[in-house]
Amino acid sequence: MPAATALQITPLENAPFGAVVSLPEGVSDPSLLSDEDFKKLKEGLQKNLVLVIPKQEELPPRSQHQLTIRFDPSCIGNYGHDEKLFHHKNSVLAKDGKCFQDTPEVIMVGNSKFPAGFQPGIVKDVELEHPTHYTFHKDVLTDEQRERGQTRFFRWHIDAALYGLSPPQVTTLLGCVVPPQTEKQKIIYEDTNEELELVKGSTAFASGAIAFKLLSPEDQEMALNTTVVYAPHPYIYISKAKATSDGLTMVSEGKEYPFEELPEWEESKIKKLPLVWTNPTTGEHHLQVHGCCVYQLINNKTGEIKELEEARKEVHRLMRPAISPQHIYCHPWKEGDLVIFFNRGLWHSVTGEFGPEEKRMMHQCNVASGEDPICVKN
Ligand SMILES: [Fe+2]
Repeated sequence: MPAATALQITPLENAPFGAVVSLPEGVSDPSLLSDEDFKKLKEGLQKNLVLVIPKQEELPPRSQHQLTIRFDPSCIGNYGHDEKLFHHKNSVLAKDGKCFQDTPEVIMVGNSKFPAGFQPGIVKDVELEHPTHYTFHKDVLTDEQRERGQTRFFRWHIDAALYGLSPPQVTTLLGCVVPPQTEKQKIIYEDTNEELELVKGSTAFASGAIAFKLLSPEDQEMALNTTVVYAPHPYIYISKAKATSDGLTMVSEGKEYPFEELPEWEESKIKKLPLVWTNPTTGEHHLQVHGCCVYQLINNKTGEIKELEEARKEVHRLMRPAISPQHIYCHPWKEGDLVIFFNRGLWHSVTGEFGPEEKRMMHQCNVASGEDPICVKN
């Protein structure tokens, strides 16, 4: 008898990282992979950072959650953010996503209205809003630029609460309704005039490993010895401030909430994470920082502290080279694509400008980890 087709992980062509997965014969639900195949998938994810499993349109939210938590034995299975803070009226994330009633760990993100029963598990009408840079960036595209098809990186980020909870290991994102691949938009980098054409609504990924490799030896040494301090309730803290046009960090204009006006917070829950996280499979160093939520940078050797404005400028300087077109992968969504990304090894951003009637439906899941990432120095 010929051997059954094995799980295969094939690097994407013409992309700096990322791979496509074909499941072994007889397995259509990736949460049900054998232990051996799952190990291969997990190592493949940490090596390739983004895995695409096509034709998963039927994957139920319950299976997506099971798959997601399988990547992290230390997690307790909750969504990656505290629900009350995620949807707090002043949080920049407040409009991002609606939970499935029976699987609250999986959220729907996208654009436009979908009626109850549109998919199994959607029990009441749901209205989604694609994030737009118009409400987040300090300077926005003109009407003319938008009409010419320009878009922006909305916000480069790691999926993480960055207060109390530890950053999720992986995020899974299932494209259920997406714009056709023939619809293109363009990003023009304001500092260099580089141009990037991408399918409307693509998710952009930048590798933290590439970002680290692009640093000078001096900056690598400095990064390896730096701790990032995040603000308490960071998404509320920054909610009145505006972002740079590349979505990497915030413009410092003194608009942040004073700490005493934030919802109650505890010193012990403030996140202090290394600037460099070491990949457990490859041993590579990844520059991993949420540039919009950063509050301070601490030099572990000297104790020197870079305060907010300087810290933002510094992370922008370190991150910027890695988002140039040749270094990033922008996933052009096809219906049924399940994208699994290693949230501890890359950063990602929404792109695309959508009108109110343009439909997009994705299912997203990530779970807070039981452990913080670490930097392993040789
Ligand atoms: Fe995200």
